[in-house]
Order: sequence, then structure tokens, then C-alpha cells
Amino acid sequence: MSDKKIFIFDTTLRDGEQVPGCKLNAEEKVGLALRLEALGVDIIEAGFPISSPGDFKSVEEIAKIIKNATVCGLSRAVQKDIEVAAEALRHARQPRIHTGIGTSDSHIKSKFNATREEILQRAVQAVKWARNLVGDVEFYAEDAGRTDNEYLARVVEAVIAAGATVVNIPDTTGYCLPDQYGEKIAWLVNHVPNIDKAVISCHCHNDLGLATANSIAGIRNGARQIECTINGLGERAGNTSLEEVVMVIKQHKQLGFYTSINAQELNPMSRLVSDTMRMPVQPNKAIVGANAFSHSSGIHQDGFLKDASTYEIINPDEVGAGESRIVLTARSGRSALAFRLKKIGYDFNRNDVDTLYQQFLHVADTKKEVLEEDLRRLAHAYTTAAIPS
Ligand code: KIV
Ligand code: ZN
Repeated sequence: MSDKKIFIFDTTLRDGEQVPGCKLNAEEKVGLALRLEALGVDIIEAGFPISSPGDFKSVEEIAKIIKNATVCGLSRAVQKDIEVAAEALRHARQPRIHTGIGTSDSHIKSKFNATREEILQRAVQAVKWARNLVGDVEFYAEDAGRTDNEYLARVVEAVIAAGATVVNIPDTTGYCLPDQYGEKIAWLVNHVPNIDKAVISCHCHNDLGLATANSIAGIRNGARQIECTINGLGERAGNTSLEEVVMVIKQHKQLGFYTSINAQELNPMSRLVSDTMRMPVQPNKAIVGANAFSHSSGIHQDGFLKDASTYEIINPDEVGAGESRIVLTARSGRSALAFRLKKIGYDFNRNDVDTLYQQFLHVADTKKEVLEEDLRRLAHAYTTAAIPS
């Protein structure tokens, strides 16, 4: 059986940009969009055109310049929003309008003071408005994670009949467990008669740290698009991280999926987004964190130096992260010390390393990390002391 393509829908410039402090101007957004296209994403959600004149301009400029990816604009299920999104996308080679409405009882009652039937009608109407303006319309059922499955299936069937090409099943509050989210997608696959006419999309938030696991559960149960962001940026605890889902799919070939992402660009892209949005990446972040390929305990370092695959499942080069790092701390061992000394030109024998190791530990106990300059000082003192006067 041949592998199935998973479409990567990047929403760094929309959901990611909603993070406090991450707002981008049009020039920054266009620069990032070009890099996202080069990274190989299939869809770029460029913004929410009706939200501000600046965001309208960003979507318009991105639509003009992007050649290979679909450019998408967000809207509510409101006619004016949809018309403004279409207007901002008018120059796009492949425009998509992303429209939708809350479908959980909590959204229906608290946000809209409406009934399920009224929301279903509004959803259908929004898709029809959008389909009159563009050929590619994605519908989002906001808070689908907490929406009753039978009602969700009715909404999904109705919006596909109205012309939706993609149906987005967001776990807006990051509530679902992976098996619950997977079952929700399977429920739609099995209970929506026209489901084969649309792509199912996963849009998972990370409030419980499950966004990546939920997205993978989604595609294992029939979804073919993942909505994600670079560095997992997004509302509250963020969205599914692009680099994580791409590498899960790449590592676990037995799942039978592939993406069009150029993995070697993942780390450069992560740094660019972090710098442009002025939002640091947590050091222990999978794939792109500063420590993702660092080894600091003696046991790990010894194993890694004998065979990298003992402690690394990904070659850092594969994701553009440069070389793995052997970090020296008070938990490091002799082999790591010998390795780092050799790197700066000192090829000591075993006895010398044993002696130096005791001196190293004294320094290491006073510091968080023993740096190259400390090592040079130690090695220099040791070699000069060893020369008879
Ligand atoms: O989390 C969410 O439900 C969203 C929708 C607007 C797709 O971001
Ligand atoms: Zn979201």
C-alpha cells in the first residue's frame, strides 16, 4: 500500500500570531510566508483579514507573492467577514477561505444564545457565501473537541453538501485525550455519508500537552491535514508544533504517511520565527530546542560517544540542527571529558584523563556548565605542571 500524503496547514501567521507579544507587521509576515513556502508547507493561513486593516494588507501581500502554497484567510460565519477575506485573497493563485462557527453546546448557548438547528443553518449559509467567492472552502467546527459526535456529524455532512472542501475538527480547548480525538475522527469517517468529498483536518491546541499526540491520532483515524505552527506557538498553551508532527511522521514510517516538508529547514525556520516574533524557544523543546541534541550525563555521553543511536533517534543534521553537543557538567564522565579535550587539541592518555577528571569535578561543582575556556585553563595548567623544570 502506498503512503498517504498529509497536508501541512501552517497557521503560525494566524493562530501563532495571536500570542501576546508576537504580533507581526505586513513586511515580517510576507518574509515568513516566503520561508514557509520554501519549507514546503501546503497551506499558509496568512491571517484574519477583517480583524484589522494591517492584517488585511498582510493577507493581500502574501496572496500576491506566494506561488506554490494555498493561501488561506480566516473568517467567522459572517457574510462581511467572508467577503473581506475573499477580497484580501483575490490575487492568490490558490485561495482558500476558512470559515466556521462554534458547535459545542457551551459555544451554542454561551456565545451565541442559539439552538443547534440555528447554528447548523448558519454554518451552511457561511459555506455557501464562501463558495460563491472561491472554489476552496474550509469549514471549522469550533470546539469540536467538546461537541457531541452525532450533532458534529450532522454539521459536517451539511457543510460538505453546501460545498466545503475541507472540514476542520478543532480541539479548541486542548481537552481531548488522543484516543478520544482519534475516535471522533473515526466517528465522522464512519457516520458522515459524503465524507469522501472533503479532507478532514486536525487543529489541536496544547492545553494538556497533547496537541501533537492528538493530531497523530487524528491522521491515524482518517484525517489528511494537520494544522500546526512553528515552535508550537498559538493561543494559550499553543497549537500542534509543525516540527513535531513532521518528525513523528518521518520517524514512524510504518504509519504510512509522508509530508512535503524539507526537514533540514526545521531548525533555521524555528530560529527565524523565534527572532521575528521575539519569542524564545524553550531549551527542551523537541526537535528545535537548544538542548534537543545535547547530552550531559556521564552515562548518556559514554553511550552516545560509542554509538550516537544509543541516545539519539534523529540525526541533528536531518533537521538542520548542526552537531550534537556534549555538555560538560558535574554529572559528566571521563569519556566526555576526553572527547571535549581532544576537540580542542589535547589527546591525553587514560591516566592523565583520570587525574584531570578529579580537577575537572572541582571546577564543575562550582558551575552550571564547564565551558571551553575552563577546559583550556585546566589542560594548560596540567601540561605545564607536568613539564619538569
Ligand atoms: O482553535 C480553533 O478552534 C481555531 C479556529 C478558528 C480554527 O483556531
Ligand atoms: Zn486554534
